[in-house]
Amino acid sequence: MGIQFNASARTFTLSTRSTTYQMGLDHLDRLLHLYYGPAIGQGDLAAMYPPADRGFSPNHNADRARRGISPDTLPQEYTGCNTGDFRLSCLVVRDEAGAAGAEWRYAGHSIQKGKYALTGLPSAHDEENEAESLCIRMEDGVTGLALELLYGVFAKQDIITRAVRLVNGGNQTLRLEKAASMCLDLPFGRWDMIHFHGRHTMERQAERVPLLNAIQTVSSTRGASSHHHNPFVILCDRKANEEHGLCYGVMPVYSGSHRTDVEVDQNGLTRIVSGIHDERFSWQLAPGEAFTVPEVILACTENGLTALSQQYHRFIRHNVCRGEHRFARRPVLINNWEATYFDFDSDAIVRIAEKAAALGVEMLVLDDGWFGKRNDDNSGLGDWFVNEKKLPGGLTPLIQRVNALGMKFGIWVEPEMVSEDSDLYRAHPDWALTLPGRAPVMSRNQMVLDMGRSEVVDYLTERLTDLLANNPIAYVKWDMNRNMTDVYSRVLPAERQGEAAHRYMLGVYRLLETLTTRFPHVLFEGCAGGGGRFDAGMLAYFTQIWCSDDTDAIERLVIQHGTSFGYPVSSIGAHVSACPNHQTGRTTPLWTRAVAAMSGTFGYELDLNKLSDEEASQVKEQIAFFDKHYQLIQNGLYYRLTDPTEESRYAAWQFVDEEQSEALFNLILTHPEANARPLHVWLRGLDPDALYRVESLDIHGCHCAPQAGLDLAMEGVGKVYSGSTLMHAGYTLPQLAGDYPSVQMYVKRV
Ligand code: GLA
Repeated sequence: MGIQFNASARTFTLSTRSTTYQMGLDHLDRLLHLYYGPAIGQGDLAAMYPPADRGFSPNHNADRARRGISPDTLPQEYTGCNTGDFRLSCLVVRDEAGAAGAEWRYAGHSIQKGKYALTGLPSAHDEENEAESLCIRMEDGVTGLALELLYGVFAKQDIITRAVRLVNGGNQTLRLEKAASMCLDLPFGRWDMIHFHGRHTMERQAERVPLLNAIQTVSSTRGASSHHHNPFVILCDRKANEEHGLCYGVMPVYSGSHRTDVEVDQNGLTRIVSGIHDERFSWQLAPGEAFTVPEVILACTENGLTALSQQYHRFIRHNVCRGEHRFARRPVLINNWEATYFDFDSDAIVRIAEKAAALGVEMLVLDDGWFGKRNDDNSGLGDWFVNEKKLPGGLTPLIQRVNALGMKFGIWVEPEMVSEDSDLYRAHPDWALTLPGRAPVMSRNQMVLDMGRSEVVDYLTERLTDLLANNPIAYVKWDMNRNMTDVYSRVLPAERQGEAAHRYMLGVYRLLETLTTRFPHVLFEGCAGGGGRFDAGMLAYFTQIWCSDDTDAIERLVIQHGTSFGYPVSSIGAHVSACPNHQTGRTTPLWTRAVAAMSGTFGYELDLNKLSDEEASQVKEQIAFFDKHYQLIQNGLYYRLTDPTEESRYAAWQFVDEEQSEALFNLILTHPEANARPLHVWLRGLDPDALYRVESLDIHGCHCAPQAGLDLAMEGVGKVYSGSTLMHAGYTLPQLAGDYPSVQMYVKRV
């Protein structure tokens, strides 16, 4: 396992527990990609790509007598620029004469224990000491540009990370117009692509399509990874399903504008190129300067989509998330947003906290509206000073009252933004991104601060440090409620304006790095109008992210299903809210809302004082249930049992611990039927030879007819079944009826 360089074959082989990744140097010292897939050992695979002379596929000058060898047909590890490969490229670079060109030649490599680090960008870490790193250095002889290809090999996790550093070793200023994070060529196979599209309040809907003989693109130009196209793409064998088949994942560790293209070329080779979006992007590299591209997390498995997701879940929990909150028990919270919106004062907040504390909630989060003149969303952003009209005496007395109830206190901020009607904007209008001579495009009546400017980051560092150092704040919800337009920085020269959007992200990461280091005990939750920046870059700072502004339990089934392909339950912010639901107007049973929300970080977002006594006691039971199964839910293996795009009657999913000693099955009926067909379910992920007792079967919100099989299903409780029985013969549930009943079944190894 790990990294091997075979000096005679001139191949690099990266081996993880069950995958192999191989590259080889050719006769011109170019680096070809040879293989990524299920483990095959170290054999040299160069012979797999016999020369094929394709018309209009050109040859390197040195190969002009060997027409079969073309950069346009060979699998590449990282393309050059303008030198004979017409497929998707990784790089566009121009010299001072405007000539675009680069061609890579091997210049050396190094192998190290541990994980390479990236300056200024989030990247996976190796706190558990299992990684090895490879750096392959390539050079372009004409410009002097050097390419450092970085590989992090996490053998046990079956993950390979990639990143690139471009260093200008020449003597003229170079201009990068595109600099991708990686290229992955799959020379053979026919693939489907799964991507995660959406909109505000309906993020990350999984869509699976066969690849066309064309280029398909998943991208965002919004300055945020976006609600619309999540930076995560899966390619899988056409026959792959949840349990079987070859799958690859490509997940950029980046939160800004991104782009992943997938091309099927003339030979049937599939190329994926992923990185920063190149629209309006450019970067000046003076002699001696370096540019680092964001990291990408690659995973591969031959065991289907569930296994691929579980690889990402484990890796994000262990190697992307950082700090003490990674594995710590996170508090069940109550957030006042949907309870009060902007209309609150200290007493109203304390009344909500009192009721919540009595029911077992552990933290109160004060959402938007506590600062500046912020009585609606038209003003106040940027003025991070307490609004004493709402909170007399400031935050301290309020926090003391909340703490006295035995609860922690958390707070909402949206640091990257400024309202036109704010003292900050009046003092520093040039801090906002605006185009010269044009009125800025408005969104939620706010503008975006130029986070690429150090004085802006310094101001926010000071304000937020003041807030966190002077108040016992245990949690911060970090929001970002619009996308970026008018991208123009008042401090950059004309030739550097193409850097503004990426410099913004570097500024955000710097601010987050400072604050999370300075305040390691504070739990940070990310947010961007719900899940508009739900990505691996943010997860390096935020252990959890508010998944969606849509809190409707039934809509959440689709959103959380799509999110689960790449991201672990422990990262998915989910709350029980009031009914009729504020986004959809739908009414669902309180328990069903909890079943959906406890497949996330779990909290409440309503005025619990408005619940009946019966409902209040349900809340108590829900928190106790979540508490009992906390480890299983947050750190267990996640199994999707249904696909909401195919199964229209119900949604089901399951948690199994790594030792296969316990499992929690969850189901929500989405469409009741007249004269219903039996509801028969099959569990997954159990040890087939082990025996499991059905410890509990809870059916909530069901108006079951007497003949619906309820007694029969309940008779199973206390009975012992083999894992294989539960997985292959399955379990029959009663014929559920009514609006959105739910089921939770817990089995434990005997
Ligand atoms: C965003 C968040 C919400 C809430 C509001 C406050 O929309 O996603 O949860 O915090 O902002 O303005």
